[in-house]
Amino acid sequence: MPYFSNTVNHIRSSEIRDLMKLATRPDVISFAGGMPNNHLFPVKEVDEILQNLPLDKKETAFQYGPTSGYPPLLATLKEYLRKKGLPVDTHKLMITTGSLQAINILGMEFIDPGDVVFTENPSFIGGLAVFKAFQAELVGIPLQSDGLNLDILKEKLEQYNPKILYIIPNFHNPAGIIYSIEKRKKLIDLLKGRDIILLEDDAYNELYFSKEAQAETKPLMSMDTKGIEMVYTGSFSKILGPGLRLGWMLASPEIYDKAEIIKQGIDACSPNYTQVIANEFMRQGYMDRYLDKIRKEYAERSRLMLDALQEYMPEEIKWSHPKGGFYIWVELPEDMDSTDVLKESIEKGAVFVTGKTFDPENKQNNFFRLSYSNMDKNQIAPGIEIIASAIKNNIQKQKTVLQ
Ligand SMILES: Cc1ncc(COP(=O)(O)O)c(C=O)c1O
Repeated sequence: MPYFSNTVNHIRSSEIRDLMKLATRPDVISFAGGMPNNHLFPVKEVDEILQNLPLDKKETAFQYGPTSGYPPLLATLKEYLRKKGLPVDTHKLMITTGSLQAINILGMEFIDPGDVVFTENPSFIGGLAVFKAFQAELVGIPLQSDGLNLDILKEKLEQYNPKILYIIPNFHNPAGIIYSIEKRKKLIDLLKGRDIILLEDDAYNELYFSKEAQAETKPLMSMDTKGIEMVYTGSFSKILGPGLRLGWMLASPEIYDKAEIIKQGIDACSPNYTQVIANEFMRQGYMDRYLDKIRKEYAERSRLMLDALQEYMPEEIKWSHPKGGFYIWVELPEDMDSTDVLKESIEKGAVFVTGKTFDPENKQNNFFRLSYSNMDKNQIAPGIEIIASAIKNNIQKQKTVLQ
């Protein structure tokens, strides 16, 4: 048998992935995937860009590029982030191969086995997987409808000495919430002067459904964070396409310099080809038009799902009301297990992702995540009806056991 590394021995295939293998029947309605719908990608626009691209740029696109990123894209992105109030002059920007790579690089830069990392509970499964792979001890801080539970965070800060606090303030994956401006300020105040890196993952920043929601998307790093070491990550995955594998990281020069050395050893540079496309997409004004379109599209999908939940779910069930992004987080009665619901739901033809998948301790399971971004619109109501019927059956079964 091969003698695996400690890192690999810490990685487990999740029960959910195994269950999901059963859900590959073409007739299954999936609310599991947190990705855009294929038909929404700007295929025509990118075709136009490529057709009109001068030869020298096409040739550059095929070439290796600097580890920090394709310089014209770095310049475009810098101006884009400056408009969001981010400190692009005092901090350094790096293009990464998806924003997940940025999290990975930071994991390698800061985490030794046994180091404590604070995450939200629930949190993004990709981020959790990175921290686990570096053998961090994960401590989950519960999320409320307006952001982290700061009382619990305060308590945990007295008990532990975490290296990183990882948060997703905008249109949270999986919880579907957005941090209020007040909570952002309080969190910053709480962390000032402490020796902890605040990692702000802003993958969904642009996907607001209204002007009011847009006003709440202010990155923490654009606020007065003096006295806090912050790293900000973002992504082209939800605003252009995950297949481009492009994200970015904004960090202090000290953190950036080590990150660049780490990235050299991982992939030398992110794909130049897609960086050229992303740059033209932004520079030629395609991005703004495309964002208008997808914001409307996701808003409509979320409305369809909320309407279906209202129509089909039994009254014991609660769910979040997203102001943007891809997700609705559903809360079952405390003693109900979302894996039981999932099993029945898969048989009947609809899937979602169970709550404990997103729990840093892999325990709490009376929740699940619905994603409305990927499915055809006309499948949303039938899928929710199936899940609701699986929930009703589980409620019924529990009542029978109790009798
Ligand atoms: C919160 C969050 N962060 C990061 C990512 C990773 O995105 P990327 O494709 O840029 O690696 C995702 C993807 O779903 C996400 O939901």
